[in-house]
Amino acid sequence: MNLDREHAQSLDAADPLRAWRERFVLPQDEQGRELVYLCGHSLGAQPTLAADYVEEVMRDWRSLGVDGHFAARHAWTRYHERAAPALANLVGAEPAEVVAMNTLTVNLHLMLVSFYRPAGERTALLVERQAFPSDRHAAESQVRFHGLDPARDLIEIEPRPGEACLRTEDLIAVIEREGGRIATVLLPGVQYLTGQVLDVAAITAASRRAGCTVGWDLAHAIGNVPVALHDTGADFAVWCHYKYVNGGPGAVGGVFVHARHARRTDLPRFAGWWGHDRATRFRMDPEFVAMPGAEGWQLSNPPILGLAPVVASLAHFESVGLAALRAKSVALTGYLESLVDARLDGRVTLLTPRDREARGAALSLRLECGRDRARAAFDGIRARGIVPDWREPGVIRAAPVPFYNGYEDAWRFVDALCAEISTS
Ligand SMILES: Cc1ncc(COP(=O)(O)O)c(C=O)c1O
Repeated sequence: MNLDREHAQSLDAADPLRAWRERFVLPQDEQGRELVYLCGHSLGAQPTLAADYVEEVMRDWRSLGVDGHFAARHAWTRYHERAAPALANLVGAEPAEVVAMNTLTVNLHLMLVSFYRPAGERTALLVERQAFPSDRHAAESQVRFHGLDPARDLIEIEPRPGEACLRTEDLIAVIEREGGRIATVLLPGVQYLTGQVLDVAAITAASRRAGCTVGWDLAHAIGNVPVALHDTGADFAVWCHYKYVNGGPGAVGGVFVHARHARRTDLPRFAGWWGHDRATRFRMDPEFVAMPGAEGWQLSNPPILGLAPVVASLAHFESVGLAALRAKSVALTGYLESLVDARLDGRVTLLTPRDREARGAALSLRLECGRDRARAAFDGIRARGIVPDWREPGVIRAAPVPFYNGYEDAWRFVDALCAEISTS
């Protein structure tokens, strides 16, 4: 493998998506130098278009006031609909199966209210032990909400001893063995700590064979790896738009509800007026009539200023297409992996799967030099203008995002880490 910086530059020069970097505003240091931003798995960089879309809403608000709800060029009463076609493409759904609303944890609760219905012997909720804490809190509190004991009814699956990632066969074995008492399976499309892509199709199929409902947290998957929610038959999914979708800090989240539930009035749901039939919403009748599809789970009129950057960013995804982004992502992440192997061998352990189909853009590296030296190395690379993130007790996550990162970014990260590990 060619380890030269010039080689990385030549790979960038040949990158067909290279021009997209100019359509993002990348963070800078105090001297105005662009940082090597490798944190898109946490907060994606700002698309230049986002400011235009936000400004349009501000302008309409100034000039139209309340009339903007119906008279704005993109009327606010229908604004959220602008996100649906692109979201459907990203998660493999029909537009009516998805809606942008609320935020991730709120949406997770709303989905569990409808789809986690413990009854008879079937009372448990299956999650992973390393789940992102908010998912764990939501799951545990839902179990308690039903008057159940998490010690019995929260089943937590973890990797085998000495392994970082979950094995599909282990997940399926638990679902088959315990299926009779599992009401709902709730798992991440991409595990946040290791970057592992779970086999959504196989696990969904096994869950459904066992008679469980199944939902996915796609926070780290959407805009990163392809997902086919409709075809796999998952009951629901939730996600945020501030990571790979580049929708801005605390951006409005998203939900998928499978079409087979589109008109189900028997499912309990926490309702609000924005989920009520659009045609009669403004008659202000007291009776709730749910809109068909995912929109029927909406509660409030949407935060238009929060949706604007999401809609702007989704326009970029529609222009490029996830397939082209994924192709670059696989190549770029593979290049980063090769550099790590060649230059940091023995000093870091890759927690992320080596199989390119089983990972997205992020690599998680455990530094094998003890927690404090690892932290010093991380602080050192930050001081050099490189921005990955840190997870205790000694894991650095770095995501070369195909929209705005290049091969030289990967090279500079590994070069800096190499220098800092040697001196820390
Ligand atoms: C996997 C996962 N679940 C849940 C959350 C919490 O999201 P929110 O604060 O939008 O509810 C995050 C946030 O990063 C996450 O990565």
